[in-house]
This record gives sequence, structure tokens and C-alpha cells, in this order.
Amino acid sequence: MSAATIVTALIVAAGSGSRMGGDLPKQYRLLAGKSVLAHAVDALAGHPRIDAVRIVIGQGQQDIARTALVDRDVGHLIIGGAQRSDSVRAGLAALGDGIVLVHDAARPFCPPDVIDRLLDALTRGDGAVPILAIADTLAKGLGMIDAMVDRTGLIRIQTPQAFHAEDLRYALGEVRGRATDESSVMVAAGLKVITVEGDTMLDKLTTTADWDRAEQRFAAAMISRTGSGFDVHAFAGPGPIMLGGIEVAHDRGLAGHSDADVALHSITDALLGAASLGDIGDHFPPSDPQWKGASSDQFLSHAASLIRDRGGAIDQVDCTIICEAPKVGPHRLAMRHKIAEILGLSLDRISVKATTTERLGFTGRGEGIAAQAIATIRLPS
Ligand code: CTP
Ligand code: MG
Repeated sequence: MSAATIVTALIVAAGSGSRMGGDLPKQYRLLAGKSVLAHAVDALAGHPRIDAVRIVIGQGQQDIARTALVDRDVGHLIIGGAQRSDSVRAGLAALGDGIVLVHDAARPFCPPDVIDRLLDALTRGDGAVPILAIADTLAKGLGMIDAMVDRTGLIRIQTPQAFHAEDLRYALGEVRGRATDESSVMVAAGLKVITVEGDTMLDKLTTTADWDRAEQRFAAAMISRTGSGFDVHAFAGPGPIMLGGIEVAHDRGLAGHSDADVALHSITDALLGAASLGDIGDHFPPSDPQWKGASSDQFLSHAASLIRDRGGAIDQVDCTIICEAPKVGPHRLAMRHKIAEILGLSLDRISVKATTTERLGFTGRGEGIAAQAIATIRLPS
């Protein structure tokens, strides 16, 4: 493989997840606060030998896919087909030459060593796949055993699977019909597929039992961390104000370099604190003119992406807004929705509360608004 060969991960996410069931296809559901697809994307995009990640989604899945991916930069989403192999064909048609790692979105954990083994092995064949030995006894029959199957020499094959894009294009052109993976197509086309050691972390999420196991696995590999944040902005000039990511009507505005959203600032600081990543001023210095009037959404989503980049997950955010006016209660639900959207979390993980200070202190005198927040996150131990 020459140093200039581009390595692209092609993640197929166009399935409907019928065996898993539920309202949302499994690849878009949240596993430990992050979509399965986003887990898969982060695992591959974070590998130093992978240059780009492209994603194939189903027709009509654009909105849920964008929500699941939050602010990840994955280029335009490719539309797949009715069968997994149709989706791979569509993805491959959108790629140039180079090495392609075809991966199921339904396999959220990909240990980096497996990718190294695959790319190293590709120099010895036309393709490389991760495999595992079979530990269980094998047989044919349903309801009653018809015949035993000798498991000697049998292996099970996972993804990602590495190929030169032109070889896979050739094989897909030669071999028609349904295939459950690309190694089947390559072998049927007479090409040489090398096996490397796979990993049980790569097991596909197919049923609810797989889902439960994945959640337990996730929990075991992470440690919980907590951070707090606090922010104050003074009233100045005319309203409205930005609070909790939404515009709230008020006769007075808030002074600040950015949009002065105290709630989002306190949550941003709580997240940064939980990950020991400094504070909002370190990342978005008030002296920097580019943040003048900036929408605080971007501060919050940046803090979230820093945690994701470290393989972490956000479990919960709780914010208390402290002011006499405006009244926060009527806007709480809209704020929770907005914060959940920015962080890519479900609504039940976001809490917004409000209190007055009984007319005491600067908030009591109506001089400004304060907010404090607590964030619970998990980071790899
Ligand atoms: N896939 C795809 N296009 C299809 C079918 C499947 O891109 N037409 C993707 C899935 O999104 C998944 C991977 O291929 O990431 C493996 O497929 P599978 O586990 O079978 O997922 P689903 O087809 O979604 O699930 P089910 O078969 O239970 O409906
Ligand atoms: Mg399927």
C-alpha cells in the first residue's frame, strides 16, 4: 500500500432493524447517550490510518441520521437500497479509488487494533476480514435437531472488511444476488480474502439481547465523572434575551460578548469541568472578536464534541436558572428540547429548573440572571 493511498470507511446504515424492533432503526437509537451510528463513526474516524468516513442511509432517514450524527462532518449522506448489498453498491459508487473499509453501523465498537490488522493484511491479499472461532456446538434443525454440523475449521466473519475499492467494484459486478457481506462476494468472484483476528467487541447488534449486552459492556469500560458550571450576565439594554438556547421575550436584554445565554454557558462549563478540559473562556476567549454576538449553541456543541472525541458519553445535564424575571416555567420544555438537540441526547437526560432568590442579592434586585449546572458524563477509564 503506498503512503498516498486514501483509506475510506464506508458505514452502511440503511437498514430498518426489524429484528431489534422499536420505534427507531437500531443504528439511530441511543446507546449510553450516543447513537449506535455515532459510536461506529467515532470509532473509525478516530483511527489515525482512516482518512475519511462516508455513510449510507435509507431513503427518508436523512433527518434521523443528521440528528444521530449531531455535528459530525461526514460529507453528504449516500442513499442506500433495499438489501445491504444494494447499500454497499450505492456507497461504493460514491467513492473514488483507494482502500475501503466496509462496516456495519450496527457494530458500534471497533477496537483500533483490528483496523491495523486489516490494513496490514491487505498487502497479502485482495481483501481482509476480521474473524472469530466458533465456540458453540453447531447443528441444523428448528424445533428438533436434524443433523449435527462439524464446526472444525468454521469461522464467523465480522466487519469492518478491507478491500481495494476497484477489486470490490469488480467483484460486485461479477457476482449478482444477495450477500450478507462483501467477503462472500469477493470469494465468489475468485479473489483472495485474508483473515485476521476479530474481536467480540465487534459483534453486531441484531436483537434486544445484543442491545442489553452492549449497554453492560459500555458501562463496564467507562468511569462516571461530574462537573459543575456557573455563569452570570447583567441586564442591559432592551430584550429579548437568549436563555437555554431559545429566545425569551423580556423588556431588558443581557450584556455579554456572545449572546449572553447564561444557561448554555453554565452547562458548557459543567461539561468541560466533568472532562477536566478547562472552562469556556479557555475555548472561546472573550477577547476574540469571532465570538462577538455568537450563538452559544456552538459553545455547548463544542464541549460535547470534545467529550465524544475522547470516547466519552454525556449521561445527564441539570441546570438551574436563577432570576426574578422573566418567568422560566413556560419555556422550560422548549429549553430542554433545544439543549437535548444540541447535545444529541434524549429529553429525559436534560433537566432545566428555575428559582428566584426571594428578592435578595443581585438576582433578587433584578440586576441580572445567574445559572448553575451539573453534568454527569462517562469517559473511558
Ligand atoms: N443495511 C443497509 N442497507 C440495507 C440493509 C441493512 O445499509 N438495505 C445495514 C444495516 O443498517 C446494518 C448492516 O447493514 O448496519 C447490517 O445489517 P442488519 O444487522 O441486518 O441490519 P438491519 O437490516 O437494519 O436489521 P434487520 O435485518 O433485523 O431488519
Ligand atoms: Mg438486515
